[in-house]
Formats: sequence, C-alpha cells, structure tokens
Amino acid sequence: MGIFEMGSSRIGIFDSGAGGLTVAGAILAHRFFDEIVYFGDTARVPYGTKDAATITRYALEALEFFKNFDIDLLVTACNSVSAHAIEELRAQADFPVYGVIEPGIWALQKRRLPRDSKILVLGTRATVQSGRYQSGIRALGYERIDAIAPSLFVPLVEEGIFEGEVLQSVLHHYFAKLETPDAIILGCTHFPLIAEAIGGYFGHKPLLIHSGEAIAERLESLGYAPHRAERTELRIFASENPAALKRTAKRWLGMVN
Ligand code: DGL
Repeated sequence: MGIFEMGSSRIGIFDSGAGGLTVAGAILAHRFFDEIVYFGDTARVPYGTKDAATITRYALEALEFFKNFDIDLLVTACNSVSAHAIEELRAQADFPVYGVIEPGIWALQKRRLPRDSKILVLGTRATVQSGRYQSGIRALGYERIDAIAPSLFVPLVEEGIFEGEVLQSVLHHYFAKLETPDAIILGCTHFPLIAEAIGGYFGHKPLLIHSGEAIAERLESLGYAPHRAERTELRIFASENPAALKRTAKRWLGMVN
C-alpha cells in the first residue's frame, strides 16, 4: 500500500504562478482533502496578458503534469484559464475539473443583493475580455456591471506590495472614475492579497467575492466535507524555480512540505 490509506483524497490545484496559493489557502483551511498537489506555471506567468489559444495550450500542458498524480479532481485557480480553457480541460481530463468563475458567480447569487446593485468585476485582460463574469452576472438579473483589468495589480502583489502609497495611487488610477460598487468580484488570483485596500478605497465596505472562498463553498455544496482530513499536506511544484514558489507559499500560508 502507498503512503495513502484507502479513502484518502487528493486535489490538484493549477495556476499560472503563485497567485493560486490564495485559492490553495482557502481549500487548506477547510481541510477537505488529505493532500493538495499545487502546480504553478512560473516559467510562463502571466497568463492574463496572453490570448485564448495560448492560455488553452498552456492549460492542456499542465493537465499532462497532473496525470502523473492520482488526483480526485482538479481546480484551476487561475481565472484566465477558467475563462478560456475550462471546456477543453474538462474534455481531456479523466477527473472532474472545476474553474473559479462559476463558483464566484454562484457566491454572488447566494448573497441575494438587490437587483439594482452595482457590481464591479476586476480581472486580468484575458478574463475581462472573455466576458464570462459579465454574462454570468447579467444572467442573475444585474444590469449595472463595470468590468476592468487593473493590470498593475498583479506585479504589485508579486512585489509584496499589499498596502501603502504606491498601491493607493495605482488604486486611484483605476478606480477614480468608477461608480462606487456594492459588490466587487476579485476575479484574479492575486487580488485577495490586496482585498482590504481594494474594499477600503471605496470608503464603505462593498461585498468582496474571493475565488478561494467561492470554490470552497462550491466544493462543500458538492459533498466534500470540511474538516474531513486531520491535516492537509501541501505539495508544491513549479515549471521554474520551485524553491521560490515554496518560499512564497511559506510566507503566504505558513506551511508547505
Ligand atoms: N492567475 C491569473 C488569474 O487569476 C493572474 C496572473 C496571471 O496573469 O497569470 O487570472
């Protein structure tokens, strides 16, 4: 028998780089699984500036990596992949594949905001251009939707800038002309790390939808039991410099094996 006893469970989490650790963190906290196998395509990040064909090709290559592990399901933490490659991934995987866009929209729906609420979607260029969040939110009956791609947020987070003057002026650059939103979809793996600053910019507390929390809610609704595992082991793999990704995981999540 291998390391895992019968009945143990293993989830794969895929992202373009480190950002998906925010999703891994939420899944870790719920202890649904015995093991998380995380793969960050750090050699080719960012995906959010690339076109749909390239994102799909990269995602299908990552799928090959996960075929080496006996995973029960795969979550693509990357919104850009969820926007452009989820159908292809599902067609080629022999395990269930979940993206983060449908859970994000579902999480918004569950909050039952009034139909005249203003919803702000933040994502990479690839995610925003796909229109996936916007059409899903419109289908819930919301008409007042802004969707923007604040491209400077990703490098700021990568630099570890989560607060302060530089961040405030970048927030102002993107948000100054927007109407104050009632809810904000943090449609990019990196944005939860600056969620406080994003919400705080608007001076009241808009509802913030995080991909990690949304997918955790979704997994629970699919029957995955929170706190089923005594502990969840997190294994980190990367297409380039895995040691750097492990350091980031330690900094952000405080645990890695
Ligand atoms: N992981 C990406 C996403 O959530 C953000 C970083 C990138 O552009 O690759 O869309």
